[in-house]
Amino acid sequence: MEEKAADNFTFISGATGGVGRAFAFACAKTGALFLTGRSEEKLAELKEDIIRKYPFCSVEYFPADLTDEHSRRKMFAYIEGKALSFSRLINVAGADIQKAFEKYTDEKIVFQCRVNLEAALSLTRFVLAHREQGLEIINISSISGVYPMPYFAVYSATKSALSSFSSSLRLELKGEGIKVTSVEPGGIYTRPDVCKDIKGQGLWGKLSAKTPEYVARKSLAAVRKNKRIYRPGFWNKFIAAAPRLLPIGLRMRFIARRWSKLEKDAF
Ligand SMILES: NC(=O)c1ccc[n+]([C@@H]2O[C@H](COP(=O)([O-])OP(=O)(O)OC[C@H]3O[C@@H](n4cnc5c(N)ncnc54)[C@H](OP(=O)(O)O)[C@@H]3O)[C@@H](O)[C@H]2O)c1
Repeated sequence: MEEKAADNFTFISGATGGVGRAFAFACAKTGALFLTGRSEEKLAELKEDIIRKYPFCSVEYFPADLTDEHSRRKMFAYIEGKALSFSRLINVAGADIQKAFEKYTDEKIVFQCRVNLEAALSLTRFVLAHREQGLEIINISSISGVYPMPYFAVYSATKSALSSFSSSLRLELKGEGIKVTSVEPGGIYTRPDVCKDIKGQGLWGKLSAKTPEYVARKSLAAVRKNKRIYRPGFWNKFIAAAPRLLPIGLRMRFIARRWSKLEKDAF
């Protein structure tokens, strides 16, 4: 086994996406990074971009398909070989399939559950076993996890489970100096299709959406303060509280009308 690495690392899954990239840059200012995504090429490019801006930042990466436990194990073995330890974990990787449940295949169900939930649970268990004092954990859930969303049913269910896990874990780890925050954003301006959807939702989308840089910066501040949940922006806080004021049937009919018009896939 190699000697223990000098730096404390922030582990970021989904680092090659819009939100993950913003977290990577935000964390590069103050510490070392371990990045993962499926594409080695994208990870290498991201490392180059980070080093260009922060030449003294130590950046490690390993490509892994987080839906595949063998691929995760290879990544874990790489990390153990390098004796990395972590002061922060940011579970960002996720896929936002959006369509009527009857249009799903079994493969898509398994894929979405694995990347949105199983991966986060597995990475959390691993990082807990390789943690430094004062570990911070950020789980990127969604406002979609706050209430059931017809036509976004699997996504909404996995994000709801991720938020629930976050809160339970937080209590289990209370007293160990570990902070756990569930981040529940509305829209975030990342991929072009997401930006188009936000625009298509008119004022509602505009009020709810934030930039990835805003979400990263505020989420890091929220976990530092040990917040259980962080919802970026006033509007998202309001719509998360609105369920207490509006009957659930009414809310779900409103969501179904809006979301039935959109269809999106991922693998
Ligand atoms: N954008 C929004 O409006 C919004 C709103 C609320 C919550 N969120 C949540 O924020 C997170 C990031 O969203 P984003 O907009 O940044 O998405 P994105 O740009 O599509 O990035 C997704 C990231 O997840 C990784 N990923 C996907 N499947 C994977 C797999 N099987 N194994 C390993 N990595 C995988 C992708 O890596 P590859 O490079 O390999 O594809 C990529 O790095 C997601 O969890 C999403 O649910 C997003």
